[in-house]
Amino acid sequence: MDALNALPPLPPALSNAYDPEKFRSFGHKMVDMLADHLEHSQKRGAQSSFPGHTPSEEMAFWKAVLQGEAPSDQGSLLKAMLQRSNQLHDPRYMGHQVAVPLPQEAWVGAMTDLMNNGQAIFEMGPSNAALEELLMREIGQMLGLPEGCGGILCHGGTLGNLVALLAAQRHVSLRQGRDSWTEGIQPGTVAVLVSEQAHYCIDRAVRILGWGSEAIVLVGTDDHHRMDLEDLSHKAQALTSQGKNILALVGSACTTSTGAFDPLQGMADWAEANDVWFHVDGAHGAPVAFSETHRHLVQGMNRAQSVVMDFHKLCGLPALCTGVFYRDRGQSFLPFLQEAEYLWSDAAQEDWWDTGKRTLECTKRMLSTRLMSLRSGPGYDIWGTLVDRLWEVASCFAAEIRHREGWELAMTPQANIVCFRPKAFQKLTAAEIQAHRATYLRNGSGYVVSTTIHGERWLRCTFMNPLTEAQDLREMLAQWDDILAAD
Ligand SMILES: Cc1ncc(COP(=O)(O)O)c(C=O)c1O
Repeated sequence: MDALNALPPLPPALSNAYDPEKFRSFGHKMVDMLADHLEHSQKRGAQSSFPGHTPSEEMAFWKAVLQGEAPSDQGSLLKAMLQRSNQLHDPRYMGHQVAVPLPQEAWVGAMTDLMNNGQAIFEMGPSNAALEELLMREIGQMLGLPEGCGGILCHGGTLGNLVALLAAQRHVSLRQGRDSWTEGIQPGTVAVLVSEQAHYCIDRAVRILGWGSEAIVLVGTDDHHRMDLEDLSHKAQALTSQGKNILALVGSACTTSTGAFDPLQGMADWAEANDVWFHVDGAHGAPVAFSETHRHLVQGMNRAQSVVMDFHKLCGLPALCTGVFYRDRGQSFLPFLQEAEYLWSDAAQEDWWDTGKRTLECTKRMLSTRLMSLRSGPGYDIWGTLVDRLWEVASCFAAEIRHREGWELAMTPQANIVCFRPKAFQKLTAAEIQAHRATYLRNGSGYVVSTTIHGERWLRCTFMNPLTEAQDLREMLAQWDDILAAD
């Protein structure tokens, strides 16, 4: 008897779910729905670029759906999701630092979702592994790193920075004749130097790595919110006199809150003179290297040991897609030395094709397919064009604020991030300002966020949408003027 005859027939639910014709007709509907949505968003429809619901309103809506009190068929739900989400393609979206994706990249995302080649080892995603290796070498050089550079793709700048700091930790320990992979690091003995305005993920990484809160040493900033090189020397001297090991110097390119670019050239000088691993968190701003006009902002990044760059911020790719670049691609094997017999036989062998040896993730998405599609579609040149456009929008907006009666700038922007406010904010409490912002989010047509600088609240725009025009900026300012006039 053939025991395999006992295998029951495929349940209809599964044959339906995997039916190519059903996939095709659903896909056609999705294409139409998303193209309509894109067109509507870009036309600045009646709906705001921010849905404006409070957390409890949102919770009530979805609870009603889940309880069957509102239409819950797939089509209605997907439409509701589109309407109730942030409309990044609306030119009045000026909020956070996520890319307004190049629309065609969404179809590449659909393709990679269908293929789902996980890629921890070569056999799980052969094309992606080879492409990742080649593209990371190529893009690393476009960032100014030397020919021997390379790296890996991962899911997010937060993860990328953690992995780069792991590389720095192991590099230092090996140089001292120990191996942090097996022996760990004794808390209280090490430190990382970073600007007081760095993204919180650096602080988080240090704590995850178990180095203790004292290990994160915040360096003061100058009037332009850039790392103060004199304070860097002072803080470093103090650490050395305490007998601490400086594992890394981290530069921000740029900072999240105000868009300030640290003086990377001076930091690289210091790092080289003191033989310290220099890491650049360029999650947001590293792509300025692709712009002839703005490349000067990251001068010195080419001297870093490692650089993190999010392709899902200024490079127009959907989240998440982050590059961790090393000046010497062999260093990408530093962070992990993982035994995993079912995946590979030799943990120490530097096989570029098994990307899981170099990433925290085991399974990861087909990220290099996204990069390849961009390279062969609009081409890498689109990155410089995007940066130039977004910087132009920011600098024109800043010029308008500088001259506009009753408004002020926190500083001249160095990036596509502008912090500004009505002067009336000076006399308002934080709660009053938040209430005004809530009114704007509910009644206005755009989306702007806020930040605190030296204890004072400012509005903050990150210009990510290249379609933002003067009329959108005028409309946003006029809506704020109306809110304040009604006060
Ligand atoms: C400078 C900087 N580093 C790191 C991050 C974190 O990146 P991700 O959101 O991709 O984890 C951000 C996010 O805004 C950032 O601005």
